[in-house]
Amino acid sequence: MMADKRSSAELENLLVTGGCGFIGSNFIRRLLEGADFTGRIINVDKLTYAGNPENLADIAKNFPQRYVFQKADICDAALMENIFQKYEVDAVCHFAAESHVDRSIKNPESFIQTNIVGTFNLLEIAKARAGQFKLFHHVSTDEVYGSLGPTGLFLEDNPYRPNSPYSASKAASDHLVRAYYKTFDLPVTISNCSNNYGPYQFPEKLIPLVILNALAGKSLPVYGDGKNVRDWLYVTDHCDAIWTIMNCGKKGETYNIGGNAEMENIKIVELICDILDEISPAGNGNARRELIAFVKDRPGHDRRYAIDFTKLRQELGWKPQESFLTGLKKTVQWYLNQKKWVENIKTGAYQKWIADQYGN
Ligand code: NAD
Ligand code: TYD
Repeated sequence: MMADKRSSAELENLLVTGGCGFIGSNFIRRLLEGADFTGRIINVDKLTYAGNPENLADIAKNFPQRYVFQKADICDAALMENIFQKYEVDAVCHFAAESHVDRSIKNPESFIQTNIVGTFNLLEIAKARAGQFKLFHHVSTDEVYGSLGPTGLFLEDNPYRPNSPYSASKAASDHLVRAYYKTFDLPVTISNCSNNYGPYQFPEKLIPLVILNALAGKSLPVYGDGKNVRDWLYVTDHCDAIWTIMNCGKKGETYNIGGNAEMENIKIVELICDILDEISPAGNGNARRELIAFVKDRPGHDRRYAIDFTKLRQELGWKPQESFLTGLKKTVQWYLNQKKWVENIKTGAYQKWIADQYGN
């Protein structure tokens, strides 16, 4: 059954955590530029290497009354408590996380702190605001379900079998959020989404890394045999899905979000090479595919992820708008157009700007 009651008008002071990252910044843009949210957004972000306020520079300028930025670490419980009180926070959309699997293999500590302890802090503060607190939406990943064989799809009631420190830390946070609903009646919703791609993604993840390396004539590292499969979703579709769940989802429920776009890594890398060769041929005339290099596999590399999002489609009426090919072309074009953004990331200038502004 489709949900018809939208409750967005009720959310006045929405705290978005991790809003200077890839998905969080797209989400804030979607809400403030859209017509279906009239409240205020308080963006709390620690500004790690993955957080870039430049992602929202125009938003900060265009919505001075409805957009507030606070540099803060969600692990700092006292500071978070102050922020909740100061801005009378009545809802949370929780994106803040350490998000890169390879980093979690090399250095898992910050994943445990931010993803588990940070989430716990937010839940505790929200719990203490019982009565005035309306919704805690937790943004999570399909990686909590583990790895699939050649067939089958992840369903919401699949057992959790996380294989990397990243997915294990996200699994722990999902369980905490669910437990606060069951035990304390905290109004929560949870979403588990497949791999995202699109504007403002930090170029450590496969798609932006390959686009920028290909443009620079650098090698394109493909882990293992390149036949690992992910289900890809364009970031604005993810943002719409989250907003739909926040408005129409049932409290205490989990919703899977996916793109119906399963793809082997090697196919994606080849596609990006071909798109670039067509719209921005290499100066030396070489085909970008010549840059592909198979490298040592990632330890514990999950073979296949694929999402069944029937629940979200049937109960709440969401489906993706973008196909993988249209979304990928838009993404390649975005990185081609954003020369300054790319340059600031590559040279680290964005971090110098943050240090000048915020003093670290
Ligand atoms: P990202 O790495 O681009 O952004 C994370 C943001 O969180 C950054 O701005 C960073 O500065 C901030 N942050 C990190 N630690 C913090 C802390 N201790 N306190 C406050 N802010 C902190 O990540 P993303 O790709 O935008 O992912 C956002 C969320 O979506 C994550 O929870 C991730 O698990 C989830 N998710 C991501 C994908 C994907 O494909 N990228 C898919 C499904 C779910
Ligand atoms: P990634 O973008 O890191 O997302 P996740 O690990 O969360 O799925 O990686 C996507 C896939 O691409 C994954 O199977 C690992 C692979 N990969 C490469 O082959 N080469 C790379 O340089 C990177 C970053 C990822």
